[in-house]
Order: sequence, then C-alpha cells, then structure tokens
Amino acid sequence: MNDLRGLILSGGKGTRLRPITHTSAKQLVPVANRPVLFYGIEAMAAAGIREIGIIIAPETGDEIREIAGDGSQFGVAITYLPQSAPLGLAHAVLTAEPFLGDAPFVMYLGDNLLQGGIQDLVDAFRRDEPDALILLTPVSDPENFGVAELDGDGRVTRLVEKPTQPATDLALVGVYMFTAGIHDAARAIEPSARGELEITDAIQWLVDDGKRVEPHVVRGWWKDTGRLDDMLEANRLILDAIEPRVEGELVNSQVDGRVVIEPGARLVRCTVRGPAIIGAGTTLTDCYIGPYTAIAENCAVENAEVEHSILLAGSSVRDLAGRMESSLLGRNVRIRRDDRQPKAYRFMVGDNSEIGIL
Ligand code: DAU
Repeated sequence: MNDLRGLILSGGKGTRLRPITHTSAKQLVPVANRPVLFYGIEAMAAAGIREIGIIIAPETGDEIREIAGDGSQFGVAITYLPQSAPLGLAHAVLTAEPFLGDAPFVMYLGDNLLQGGIQDLVDAFRRDEPDALILLTPVSDPENFGVAELDGDGRVTRLVEKPTQPATDLALVGVYMFTAGIHDAARAIEPSARGELEITDAIQWLVDDGKRVEPHVVRGWWKDTGRLDDMLEANRLILDAIEPRVEGELVNSQVDGRVVIEPGARLVRCTVRGPAIIGAGTTLTDCYIGPYTAIAENCAVENAEVEHSILLAGSSVRDLAGRMESSLLGRNVRIRRDDRQPKAYRFMVGDNSEIGIL
C-alpha cells in the first residue's frame, strides 16, 4: 500500500458556534485550552502519518496557518489546501486530489474529537485493504448526522445525510479512510438539497459500484464540537484525563484534583477544584473555579465563581453575585458588576449571542 496520507477538513462556515466563529475558525475553539484541530493532527501523527493536507477557507485560512504552522511542532509536514467555497466534504476531497494523488488517506473533520486516536483504524485498513472504512456510533439525535443502514451481515447498504426520518441511530463519525477511488465517486455525484457535494453520497456511490466499504463501530467517545453543549462536553471529557501540573504561582490558594496551572498564572486567595485548566498569564483573585472549567491565557477572574465553562484568551469576569456556569466566553469578553446609577443591566453583545441572567 502507498504511504498513507492525512487530510483534515478545516474550512466550512461554523454557523452553529456563532458569535464565537464570526471572528475565528470553529476548528480553533479551544478544548482544554488547545484548539480542537490539534487533537486531529496529533492523532494522525501518533498513527505514523507524516504528510498532512489541511483544507482551509478563504476567511479563516490565515489564522489556521499561523497557529498550526508547518507541522514541525507535531512532527508532521502540513500542506495547506485552500478551498474556494464550502461546497461540501466531497468537494474538499476533490480540492485535495492534487495533494493526495493515488495515495490512500485518512480524512478527519477538523471539528471532531475521537478518544483513543486512530491507530486501530489505520491497522485495520492496512490489514483488510477495503476501498473505504467508515466509523459509526449510536447517537440519540441521528437526524443531525449522516446515518448508516447495515444488512444482516453487518455490511453497509445505505447512507443518508441528515435524514428527517432516520432508519437507524448509527451516525457517521467524522473520521474516514479512503483509497484513491473516492475521487471518482466525488466526481460522479450531484450536489445535495443543501447545495453540497456530500461525502455520504460519495461513499454510497462506492457501495452501489460494488466496492468494499467496511463499517467500524467506535468504542470510546466521539464528539462533533459544532454546538455549545458539545464543546462543553468535549472539554469535560478531555479535562477528565489531563495530567495534573501546577507551574504557576499560588498565594493563599488551594488546588484540588486534576488541575493544570500553566506557568505565569497567578492565584490569590482562590480554590480551584478540578478537573480544570488555568492558562498562562491568567490571574485569579478571591474566586472559586469549579470542575470542568478551562480558562485560557491572559484572563482575569476576580471575586467570582466559575464552573463548567470555557473562557477564551483575554476574557475577564469580576464581582458576580451568582455562580457562572455552562458558559462559553469568546476572546477579550468582559463581564462585571456595575454599580453606576441608574441601576440597570448594560450590555454590549455581538450578533447571535446568548445571555441568561438571574
Ligand atoms: O461530525 C460528523 C458529521 O460531519 C457526519 O455525520 C456527516 O455525515 C458529515 O456530513 C458532517 O456533517 P456536518 O454538517 O457536521 O459537517 P460540517 O459542515 O460541520 O463540516 C465538517 C468539517 O468539515 C468542519 O470542520 C468544516 C469542514 N468543511 C466543511 C465543508 C462543508 C470543509 O472544510 N469544507 C466544506 O466544504
């Protein structure tokens, strides 16, 4: 088999995580203080893949290039592949064809997180040599995913993208393995009702053409981080497994359980109850940080309680009367108590934001 290449899809629109993704790519939203995209790159690197192509969109491509760089920080070589418009996952495959050539490849959706990496899949793909290998997992809301139907022998018979009436609860996970035949399939299909060349349709084309498409059911957890609740859950799952490490400064402060305090962070009269991570240069004063919280670099939390939340870089939370929880704050967001008269709520909030008050 030709040497396996990697393809990560990091273009697209990111509409479901607005307003966070108005100014930033959804694949860069941090989970446990690291961009979601990095977990996919690392999974490929750990499976021995050295050449990775990353699909980028015109609006967010530069930011992704800047953060992921040439790949040397992961021990891989990254080639950036600009896609003219988000015309679908199969269109992204065609965009990558000059980079992929005849090589078999792993395709990883840049907003997906898969526990346990992809080594098992790569091994199965090399051993069994199918034309394609897809990952499936039972979900409670299959209508939001590609959905697979299998026959009595466990062979894939039908794949439908976001069906209104799903025939099964088996969702397509955003990690796929393909041989070069997928390029012909992507060329043969027509755009779907939502105007995209669907990878689901391209795989169905392979099935109809008599090609061998092997299904694998995912054993660990899998998350598509496209929505707020999924982001918080992904954050929770990753934080559950972090190695505790305190490198910042603790002044009259207490840290319990799985907690990472990055160098340059400063805690004064605080309690942090893990799992949690506090980024470099962040200052916490007179506060309580509860489980499943990820606070990025250069944030400030003062006289407040924060739990089960994600704060992006440069944000601050001050003098809250109640506990803040299940929240996602974008970059440089400021939340504070305001004692000016007249007594009133004063907001400056971006498009599509959501605020819940006591
Ligand atoms: O997460 C799994 C699901 O991912 C599968 O169950 C579906 O079958 C599959 O179609 C896909 O559905 P989504 O609607 O969640 O895909 P989304 O538009 O979010 O795109 C997935 C990733 O691919 C995301 O990182 C953006 C990127 N992308 C997307 C499109 C449409 C591109 O790079 N180019 C594109 O043209």
